[in-house]
This record gives sequence, C-alpha cells and structure tokens, in this order.
Amino acid sequence: MLKPLWKALACTLSLSLFATAMAAEPIVIKFSHVVGEQTPKGLGAMMFKKLVDERLPGKVRVEVYPNSTLYGDDKEMEALLLGDVQIIARSLAKFDQYTKSVQLFDLPFLFDDIAAVDRFQQSPAGQKLLKSMESKNVTGLAYWHNGMKQLSANKPLRMPEDAQGLTFRVQTSAVLEEQFKAVDAKGQKMIFSVVYQGLRTGLVDGTENTYSNFYNQKLHEVQKYVTESNHGILDYMLITTSDFWNSLPPDIRTELDKIVAESTIYANQQAEQLNQEDRQHVLDAKTTEIIALTPQERAAWRDKMKPVWVKFEKEIGPDLIKAAEASNKTQ
Ligand code: LMR
Repeated sequence: MLKPLWKALACTLSLSLFATAMAAEPIVIKFSHVVGEQTPKGLGAMMFKKLVDERLPGKVRVEVYPNSTLYGDDKEMEALLLGDVQIIARSLAKFDQYTKSVQLFDLPFLFDDIAAVDRFQQSPAGQKLLKSMESKNVTGLAYWHNGMKQLSANKPLRMPEDAQGLTFRVQTSAVLEEQFKAVDAKGQKMIFSVVYQGLRTGLVDGTENTYSNFYNQKLHEVQKYVTESNHGILDYMLITTSDFWNSLPPDIRTELDKIVAESTIYANQQAEQLNQEDRQHVLDAKTTEIIALTPQERAAWRDKMKPVWVKFEKEIGPDLIKAAEASNKTQ
C-alpha cells in the first residue's frame, strides 16, 4: 500500500505527464476532397501536406483524404462546419447556398482563358470574394485552378441544337442548370462520385468537366465525344472555418498562411499541364473523339448560353460581372 504522500506525488506526476503529452499533441488538419490524387487539387493537397510535414513537424499533422473517401461533395461543407474536417477545396460552382456572388464563376463564356481567371482572382474584387462567407463561418484561403470545361456526350455536339433534349450532369449550381436550359437541354445536379455511374446507366446523357476530371473519373469509357468548347471554368476555393483558423496559435497560423500561398502556386502551375496531359490520355485511350469547334460554331454556343447572365446579374452584382469581364483584357 502506498502512503498517502507517495500516492499524491504519483498522482501529480502522472497528471503532469498527461498534460505534457496533451500539450505535445499536434494540431490535426483533415483535408478532404473528391478528386483523384493526380489532379490539380490532388497534387495541391499533397504539396500542402508535404510542406506542413517539413516545416511544422510535431506541431501540425495534415491528413489528406482524396476521392470522396471521407466525405462526398454533398457532405463536405457540413463536415467542415461541424469541425470534422478542417480544410476543403470546393468547386466554385458549389457555393450558391452560402453566397450568391461566387456564382459569377459559373457564367458561361465569361472568361477567355485560365490566365484571365487568374487575373480576376488576384484582383481586389476577386480577393474580396474569398471573404464573402465570413458571416457563415467560412473563410477562403486561396483560389486553386483546375481549368476550362469541355462538353461531352455520346453523340457529336457541334452546334447548340445538337444538345437539344439531352440531360447533362451538372454540379450543384443554378447557373449551370440554366446554362443547359438555354440550349434546350436539361441540367441534372449530381454528386461527383456517381457521375461515371450516371453516364454508364444512361441516367444522364452527357456532362461538362475539365480534361483532368474527365480522364481521372474514366468518363471517356462512357462518353464517345468531347466537344472542346472551353465554355466555362472549374476552379476551387480552398476554405476553412473562421473559428478554426482564428483558434490557431499566431506563429503556426503565419506559417500555414505561407504554406497555403506556396501550395497554391504549385497547384496552379500544375493545372494547365495536367489538363493537357489528360487530354492526350483521352486521345490515347481511343474511346472518345475530341471535336474542335470552328470559331463560328463556338460563337453559336456563346450566343445561346450567354443570355443566362441576365438571369443572375442581380444576384451576382453587375459591377462584379464587369470586373470579371475586364480581366480578359491584358492591359
Ligand atoms: C465536379 O463535381 O465535377 C467537380 O466539382 C469535382 C471537383 O472537385 O473537381
């Protein structure tokens, strides 16, 4: 039997050991996403983890969950707000429940290319959008590129009339639904992880996505034609909750901000190249024909789809649309 004094000492000692162990526990950042690892977002997430491992060892641990293995795109926002994950990089097309202004990025034929998207995102108006969900406890850390979207179906789509009567899978975006209505087709909202099945079983006839997502989800196996329309963009906002980010010790937050900036540069540098490589992979698979549009054909799609802007102008804000359009001009 231990004497009371020894008992008290042993108890104090084990408590202080416990406290030390607790203090040494690293902060865990779960980063969940829905795409493959060899994609712009997948590589960006891995780079974020690598830099944290190198620079904040023992202080912060990043766990990356790709391919909807932890949460699908229907659950990831809720998981973030509940604190079950700490970072996600959500498609800009999936925020309309939280902010109407980010719908801007879905407007068809708004940006000429990814360089224009980049100029807008880095502009004061673009940076302001990162903070447009603060009242909902969501804070934008950065924009990450994927790239320009292409159309696909099992029939060649050269002119907008070719899409008539077809059902296209869309991300959860009212703008994208309207975009397909504008060509007398239907936009069917569907989570990312079931798109392949949706196309395979004929629940939907076609879709729109970047080459990177198209190839990594094996959509070429179930789509005979891709129309190189470059009609819109698919980019991401890297987000966390304001509560979590503000709760971090200042020195750790400062380092994480730097790491976010570096991972962003890396992910964005990879994006264009990965999309080009995956375009080539689609060609090599010989399952799918890539249709290049003539300027006249592309203009026909633009003429049909662009009126969608008017429907969303009020919600998004005409000045924001003008600022985005201005980013197409380099000077
Ligand atoms: C999609 O649902 O098609 C994309 O948002 C998936 C992604 O995160 O790239």
